[in-house]
Amino acid sequence: MPSTFSQAFPPAPTFTEKNVGNLEGKVFIVTGAASGVGYELAKLLYGQNGHVYVAARSSEAKVAWLLCSSTWRTFPPSRRPPMNFLQKEDRLDVLVHNAGVMTPPADSKDKLGHDLEMATNCLGPFLLNHLLEPILIRTAQAQSTPDHVRIVWLSSMITASVPPGGIQFDEKSGSPKVLKNAMQNYMQSKVGNLFLASEAAKRLGRQGVISMSVNPGLMKTELQRHSPKMQSVIMGILFKPPLFGAYSELFAALSPNITAKHNGGFIIPWGRFGDIPSTSRKGSSRSRRAVPGLRKSSGAGARRRQNVISEVWCMRAAG
Ligand SMILES: NC(=O)c1ccc[n+]([C@@H]2O[C@H](COP(=O)([O-])OP(=O)(O)OC[C@H]3O[C@@H](n4cnc5c(N)ncnc54)[C@H](OP(=O)(O)O)[C@@H]3O)[C@@H](O)[C@H]2O)c1
Repeated sequence: MPSTFSQAFPPAPTFTEKNVGNLEGKVFIVTGAASGVGYELAKLLYGQNGHVYVAARSSEAKVAWLLCSSTWRTFPPSRRPPMNFLQKEDRLDVLVHNAGVMTPPADSKDKLGHDLEMATNCLGPFLLNHLLEPILIRTAQAQSTPDHVRIVWLSSMITASVPPGGIQFDEKSGSPKVLKNAMQNYMQSKVGNLFLASEAAKRLGRQGVISMSVNPGLMKTELQRHSPKMQSVIMGILFKPPLFGAYSELFAALSPNITAKHNGGFIIPWGRFGDIPSTSRKGSSRSRRAVPGLRKSSGAGARRRQNVISEVWCMRAAG
């Protein structure tokens, strides 16, 4: 298994736009693609004639030139826009849950009062996924080529700063705890992406949809906007440009080497198969008895907690 060192300093990418071929007729959604890794991925897909939807909350100047194209549209990540998407499109080949936030100011919340990191990194993708699952399944079942309909969940290196059990749940409320250690709080949301990828693989695999989690690598992006200045300077020197992370995502989204037997698996930089670290493996196990994020795993009580993320999002959707 490639080591933490190899994930931090990976070999050159081997799956790039040169390997992708013509994507004409294929439909993609990349969330959080106004900047950083998502922006680079969207450009790569668009450059190969993909029909690319950018899901962005802010319409950054960088994206504006791409919006000129008739095949490039945008919608914010809330409930109504995906419905518009469903009215316009009859297929969705790849959904990339790229949007994310890291270590915002303490006690940052979303509009409904959820911890901002858990909301942005896990709950938002869960809801969007729920809304788009039917079209993903339809696309997979209408195709003669297997294994090409994919969901990509952005995780992280998850070998350091991961709290015990992956996600720490509050026993009373059943919700993930907001952890005082800022990096642990971010990392538990990234472990959440791994669990969501694994769950989606279990539920949708039989219907031909592949779901993968990805550690994109270490790139200098807006993600570090809340990091201390000195740390940011060091990251600027050591980390790679965001295009490299886009190659990790591109591999998960399009590599023909990924097949049904890899469903629920973990991709590491800059596009290689990795193993889920042992600290998080239990929660993402293929066994229906395994309980994401919980050390004690048994019975209906544990299963209920496993579905906490789902429950919270159902409430949000209803709101
Ligand atoms: N960079 C790294 O080294 C690294 C390492 C491991 C994992 N990742 C993961 O890679 C993904 C891409 O990150 P990046 O490095 O490209 O960072 P980025 O440049 O900050 O891009 C993240 C995108 O997510 C969007 N976003 C943030 N909060 C949001 C919210 N509440 N609702 C909707 N969209 C929101 C941002 O939109 P705004 O511009 O409007 O804020 C931005 O477009 C993230 O999931 C991140 O966790 C990155």
